[in-house]
Amino acid sequence: MPKKSSPRSAARKSVYIGLAVVLASVVAGAAFFALKSALTSQTDSARMAQLETGRRIYAEACAACHGASLEGQANWQKRLPNGRMPAPPHDALGHTWHHSDEVLFRITKDGPAAYPAGYQTDMLAFGGRLTDEEITATLAFIKSTWPPEVRAKQERIDLDSQRRKP
Ligand code: HEC
Repeated sequence: MPKKSSPRSAARKSVYIGLAVVLASVVAGAAFFALKSALTSQTDSARMAQLETGRRIYAEACAACHGASLEGQANWQKRLPNGRMPAPPHDALGHTWHHSDEVLFRITKDGPAAYPAGYQTDMLAFGGRLTDEEITATLAFIKSTWPPEVRAKQERIDLDSQRRKP
């Protein structure tokens, strides 16, 4: 007489295997998320430090012209009597976000030399005063003040400018 319990024990076995698979993937999933959050929090704290450096440098080196709240000089769209442009805002109302990362970096580092030859500007060259990392941190701080849609637009402009390169 065939054992009646056989199909049932096979079924029980597959339930155990199923449970083991579920358990293994839960453990693997938990390990993955633990690792991911460790990596993210590390990146987050590095980013926090970068933004703090940028905030400090902005206040010390840029705010005098571009405004403590990144609001730019008064009537920044109107030429000064000397024919030069006032310092524009770096907030979302200005046109800083119209430029690629490379252009923003070059203007900050090279000042007048980043503009077309002969262009007269009061923007200073910070290459001698700030390291490349400090310039990047300052620009990262400026970007961090933009609303997400403005950041997204600038990222698209930046990507487009990289794509246009040979
Ligand atoms: C002495 C005043 C002055 C200081 C200080 C200054 N800037 Fe400027 N900046 C200007 C002026 C004026 C312009 C406009 C240039 C033009 O269009 O002729 C400008 C333009 C810029 C632009 C181009 C913005 C755009 O949309 O065209 C960037 C980027 C910039 N500055 C970054 C900085 C950063 C970063 C700092 C601090 C590290 C800084 N500036 C400090 C005067 C200044």
